[in-house]
Amino acid sequence: MDRLVVEGGFPLKGETRVSGAKNAALPLMAASILADGPLTLVNIPRLGDLRTMGRLIAFMGGSVSPFWENGEAEVATIETRNIDRPEAPHELVKTMRASALVLGPLLAKCGRAKVSLPGGCAIGVRPIDLHLTALKEMGATFDLSGGDIVAAAPKGGLKAARIRFETVTVTGTENIMMAAALADGVTTISNAAKEPEVVDTGEALIKMGAKIEGLGTDELAIEGVPSLSGAEYRVMPDRIEAGTLIAAVAVAGGEVLLKGTPFKAMAGVIEKFASSGLALEAQGDDLLARRDPLEPLKAQDMTTSPFPGFPTDMQAQFMAAMTLARGVSIVTETIFENRFMHVAELKRLGADISLEGRVAVVRGVKSLSGAPLTASDLRASASLILAALAAKGQSSLARVYHLDRGYNRLDRKLNSLGAKIRREKE
Ligand code: UD1
Repeated sequence: MDRLVVEGGFPLKGETRVSGAKNAALPLMAASILADGPLTLVNIPRLGDLRTMGRLIAFMGGSVSPFWENGEAEVATIETRNIDRPEAPHELVKTMRASALVLGPLLAKCGRAKVSLPGGCAIGVRPIDLHLTALKEMGATFDLSGGDIVAAAPKGGLKAARIRFETVTVTGTENIMMAAALADGVTTISNAAKEPEVVDTGEALIKMGAKIEGLGTDELAIEGVPSLSGAEYRVMPDRIEAGTLIAAVAVAGGEVLLKGTPFKAMAGVIEKFASSGLALEAQGDDLLARRDPLEPLKAQDMTTSPFPGFPTDMQAQFMAAMTLARGVSIVTETIFENRFMHVAELKRLGADISLEGRVAVVRGVKSLSGAPLTASDLRASASLILAALAAKGQSSLARVYHLDRGYNRLDRKLNSLGAKIRREKE
């Protein structure tokens, strides 16, 4: 197992390109199951969860070009014609909740599926009941056996349904949109997720021949078609990686040009950091982020909410930036019930944070000092690295696999901007 050792106190300087979005690439890889021909995805980031999804597709009988060993091109061609084992076993999916994304496509294409109940980040209960209820409304049946969901579509395939999600669910919306693309009739989804990654998935499906209306709104209509073809599709840039790098400049200071920033997809994040006093300037498709390391940010309150609100996946990194801001920030998490595991670790660096339920009160301090830290989940690990960049002295971060699941070599990217991060075997 690797750990990272961070020498704090170096402002960031330089430029870096935003990688492809993990949370778009995952459903796009799952969407390949629906296609009769190869789906080529361009701008695939090299990270653990996508490797897991690649292994899963290969396990089922499909093939994925070895994109993570494929130089800088980051292209994956996925061929799923030969899938003959529509199963996602526990061993492969225990670290990755997004494995549930294959359920809808497998039911639609193969008429059956056996999917291990998902694991992933320990940030809350995170059931997939909404996915299952919606698929049931489309005629699917489910049994639970040995921790696996054993699912079957009715004879003649899934039927269109009028789905209403009681809670906005991102992967739930994607799962049903994919299932509905090949179902009989027009499926409608109310209270659908509007996240840019849902739109990206929908646009790729349209390129494959699907009929989808309402993308980017909370009402989707999907008219099933008999088959989908292969296509080539460029994965959108990762708004969470971009936001993490902006937060890195916010916490460590310096001047960084983020190339290929998805401005529209992250307007809420950009606005929040701008109101805290971070200088952010659009330069064409790029974003210049700047902060004088001697000039602290102003504290800002923040509440997470579904798109276009502030994303829960940026909450921990935003909090890291607020630990050194002037004043008090109230950070409220409304999406997941247990997403404050970074708080105890940030406090080990000297942050002043008190927690009450889903609300964290962050009182800005003048400085942080290095400490040994342990990552608990993906975005928490990013927030700890950011805080360590600004802490005086040395910090270490154990359980880096959480970080590697979801970031395209974040330590290397930060080092290319002047950070001092060393990777060691534990
Ligand atoms: C996706 C993202 C994740 C992000 C989250 C919220 C991917 C691969 N992951 O996760 O990074 O943090 O959106 O933006 O895209 N819920 C239920 N029952 C369900 C489904 C969800 O109760 O069947 C609840 C969840 O526990 C949570 C809320 O709904 O409280 C939203 O979760 P959801 O949008 O489904 O998150 P994911 O799609 O898993």
